[in-house]
Amino acid sequence: MNIVLMGLPGAGKGTQADKIVEKYAIPHISTGDMFRAAIKGGTELGLLAKSFIDKGALVPDEVTIGIVRERLSQPDCDQGFLLDGFPRTIEQADALDNILSDLGKRIEYVVNIQVEQEELIKRLTGRRICKVCGSAYHLLFNPSKEEGICDKDGGELYQRADDNPETVSNRLEVNIKQTQPLLDFYQAKNVLTNINGQQDISDVFADVDALLQGSRN
Ligand code: AP5
Ligand code: MG
Repeated sequence: MNIVLMGLPGAGKGTQADKIVEKYAIPHISTGDMFRAAIKGGTELGLLAKSFIDKGALVPDEVTIGIVRERLSQPDCDQGFLLDGFPRTIEQADALDNILSDLGKRIEYVVNIQVEQEELIKRLTGRRICKVCGSAYHLLFNPSKEEGICDKDGGELYQRADDNPETVSNRLEVNIKQTQPLLDFYQAKNVLTNINGQQDISDVFADVDALLQGSRN
């Protein structure tokens, strides 16, 4: 199953991705996570990515496309994959078509999680992430059992550097501008489904799962 997960910053892509990859046993490919890993590792890619991410801007297409091409070529993607946060521009969407066509694959589902802007700001500014496993929590909407500690592995929770109010507002502005042309692109290919992201996490997943289950019938 080859899936693209779309949605504005804070829509719940990562939260739903964790559930999808657990159930469908496909790799979770998040360009944001890949950049954050590179930043943590202090690599050249990390240094470059950080200069854009800290401002809430997009990392240049050629860089992002390069890392996705390499990742999708790996053998664990043979039975399917879940792209989270890629593509984000028409250039990236065109490049993805080319990459997949080279690999003899195509996108089957584009799942767009829709959430109002006011709610996104609350979700992003209240988000906390586990330092060990990367799981996302929310101070109010999805709190850990013990404050500041991950339920799964006891890891310390931290706030993402780009989740401060100023960067959040830039991220939303940049992403809103890029999104509609992408939705039109995938609508024209008949692979787009909009999901109401403004429900409980488990209800959002039930809707996503119902869509993906349909592919098995
Ligand atoms: P990335 O890491 O992809 O960030 P993003 O798109 O801004 O999205 P987020 O990860 O912030 O939100 P999410 O939708 O995953 O929400 P989550 O599940 O965590 O990218 C970061 C940066 O990297 C970009 O700004 C850019 O610079 C660069 N980049 C990445 N990809 C790129 C690309 N393709 N091209 C160029 N640059 C790129 O949930 C958010 C919060 O809400 C959590 O606290 C969660 O617990 C809570 N929550 C989730 N669902 C619900 C719900 N249903 N109800 C209540 N709360 C909920
Ligand atoms: Mg995410």
